Amino acid sequence: MTQFKGSHILSVNQFDLDSIHTIFSVAERMTPYALREKRTRVLDGAILGNLFFEPSTRTRVSFGCAFNLLGGRVAETVGMAASSLSKGESLYDTARVLSTYSDVIAMRHPDAYSVREFAEGSRVPVINGGDGPNEHPTQALLDLFTIQKELGHAGRGIDGMHIAMVGDLKFGRTVHSLSRMLCLYKNVSFTLISPKELAMPDYVIADIENAGHKVTITDQLEGNLDQADILYLTRIQEERFPSQEEANKYRGKFRLNRSIYTQHCKSNTVIMHPLPRDSRAQANELDNDLNSHPNLAIFRQADNGLLIRMALFALTLGVDEQLEQYECPVNWYSRKADF
Ligand code: NCD
Repeated sequence: MTQFKGSHILSVNQFDLDSIHTIFSVAERMTPYALREKRTRVLDGAILGNLFFEPSTRTRVSFGCAFNLLGGRVAETVGMAASSLSKGESLYDTARVLSTYSDVIAMRHPDAYSVREFAEGSRVPVINGGDGPNEHPTQALLDLFTIQKELGHAGRGIDGMHIAMVGDLKFGRTVHSLSRMLCLYKNVSFTLISPKELAMPDYVIADIENAGHKVTITDQLEGNLDQADILYLTRIQEERFPSQEEANKYRGKFRLNRSIYTQHCKSNTVIMHPLPRDSRAQANELDNDLNSHPNLAIFRQADNGLLIRMALFALTLGVDEQLEQYECPVNWYSRKADF
């Protein structure tokens, strides 16, 4: 991908290392605006259509706030029942109409490839905020950005790193997208830890192996974490199971807490999770007793989502060179964040 302006962002397969570098360098330039040290009104007058047909907190709100922080306004549609899709309208027709009302659209939908189908009817750039179990490209970008920053602090890099992915690797779209993005790098070791029934799909494993990476597949947490630089935990994607009973079989199978971490991980293993973590007692996949641990990167990871989504809006709308020109001061009290 060399051209961002006017382009859809639908899959991680669009990116090469140069385009990732471009996104990350624009994301870094967003830090003072996200920190409210100063403002930019570069998107004053622009409208984001934020269409979320599946539950979301971080992705939906960070898309909206990213657009607001660049000076634009957000028109939101939440839930299938509130839209004419529930009256049988096609994604194509919905896109044709809504894309006249806005300048860019972010969309999440429960069906794989639905966002691509929608984009075919859209006159404006469409950004995939998650299409069923398939992909979540903006999450993969913010995950990779986080990995680069977290390992970079310790003088380590992505080439040659070891990542352990844990949980529902079958339905978890974040691990599908992140794994494929890591295929652009060299000599990455993957340890894929899941119940056998929830293993990483073969087509993703084939991509990882074709990139020359090493893959270990197991259903045991203990004994398989000691090499990991990054420990990436995921939630059982209960909404993709035929029934709650089926999902319950896997809930709580893998749990990380401070004692397991101390016993089984290196002292500098970075803990990541796309969130939400399932904190109900039956699951408790990532215990609160790690909340103050310096290697717990989950909230820094979510914070980085704001920078990445601001960068994607600036690039797809072609204003990345004009941020500074439209700057103005912040007049209110503002708190510090951890970027
Ligand atoms: C993830 C998603 O929706 O795929 N959440 C997110 O966007 N940060 C992961 C999940 O829901 O488990």
